[in-house]
Amino acid sequence: MKELFVQFRNAFIKFGYKKILRKIYFLFDPEVIHDRMVDAGIILGKFSITKGLTSIFFNYKNKKLKQNILGLNFSNPVGLGAGFDKDAHLLDILPEVGFGFVEIGSITGEACDGNPKPRLWRLKKEKSLRVNYGLKSEGCEKVARRFRSKRSKVPVAVSIARTNNKDTIELSKGIEDYFKSYRCFRKYGDLLIINISCPNAYGGGTFGEPDKLNQLLQRLKEARVSKPVFLKLSPDLDKKNIDSIIEISKKYGIDGFICTNLTKVDLDLPGKGGISGKLLGQKAHDMVKYVHYKTKGEFVIVGCGGISSAEDAYKMIKSGASLVQLITGMIYEGPQVVSSINQGLIELLEKDGFNSVSEAVGVDSKFL
Ligand SMILES: Cc1cc2nc3c(=O)[nH]c(=O)nc-3n(C[C@H](O)[C@H](O)[C@H](O)COP(=O)(O)O)c2cc1C
Repeated sequence: MKELFVQFRNAFIKFGYKKILRKIYFLFDPEVIHDRMVDAGIILGKFSITKGLTSIFFNYKNKKLKQNILGLNFSNPVGLGAGFDKDAHLLDILPEVGFGFVEIGSITGEACDGNPKPRLWRLKKEKSLRVNYGLKSEGCEKVARRFRSKRSKVPVAVSIARTNNKDTIELSKGIEDYFKSYRCFRKYGDLLIINISCPNAYGGGTFGEPDKLNQLLQRLKEARVSKPVFLKLSPDLDKKNIDSIIEISKKYGIDGFICTNLTKVDLDLPGKGGISGKLLGQKAHDMVKYVHYKTKGEFVIVGCGGISSAEDAYKMIKSGASLVQLITGMIYEGPQVVSSINQGLIELLEKDGFNSVSEAVGVDSKFL
């Protein structure tokens, strides 16, 4: 009965979103719509009644989706990717939308306005986005103050990145900038994500280069963080580079990887910057598979890129992801996509004879 209600509810919301709301939203600049969505989320998250209603419209629970990973309880494997709630405004409402975890940020050491506008484009035919925000952030101290007063119902991952300006281009200054946010969030949030892969930062280089990464992790070690730490990887890394990152990660006790950030392919598409969504999906999936194969399940993997259906999420899980994340899928399909994916996962798991998500993690990987 509950399953039928959720199916009907999701079909109804999806129809309304695609036929009416999305058509209206897509008439306006994507960043303006994103900002209005954040404003709406802040209001919905303020009152018990609006939170309760949001939950009735969007939530879905099933015990087969639960996992305990690195000591944290995830009610389902579908999370929100970094970049939607950059400054931690939405922690009260996102769990009611059905997310099993959320990632805030990326947050930088200093406040930063990001790149000049326009910096977000819809690639409608490709169900993708082109993103050139350039790490817009209120800065770690302000976001940490806001975060301090919040109690999230789901695990919160805090993504940190280097401030995007010319002052942090020099390696040692860039490292100190990361260190500032890292230390600032030592006490807040459940996981720390080191974003070493933003494709839109000033100067272009990233900390995906082994030598730089070594120096960065060496310095961050001094903050004595006692919660799980992940690296967020670029989908554009070659295998040799990935192998080096894995080796360095072992040395510094990194717990997992988010595969992946935006891709910087050189396609003839409108706008500039990194690309999300369907154009990224295959690359992100291949990266999950490769990292899981190489590390033999030693690291927790979060699959991220182009996920908009239960089938997409299941493919990532079977290739080695314990958790998945999305942003673009929600923009094209509507916010009910989170519970649709979760409900669809139950069907797919049952069809394959699995009793829980964790049983399916990595079953398609060659090393098993
Ligand atoms: C508007 C937007 C802003 C983003 N900002 C960040 C960011 O600040 N830090 C980060 O690690 N990833 C950022 N990302 C990348 C996403 O977290 C994610 O890795 C990527 O979009 C792929 O997932 P998707 O295809 O489901 O959108 C951003 C993505 C979008 C669409």
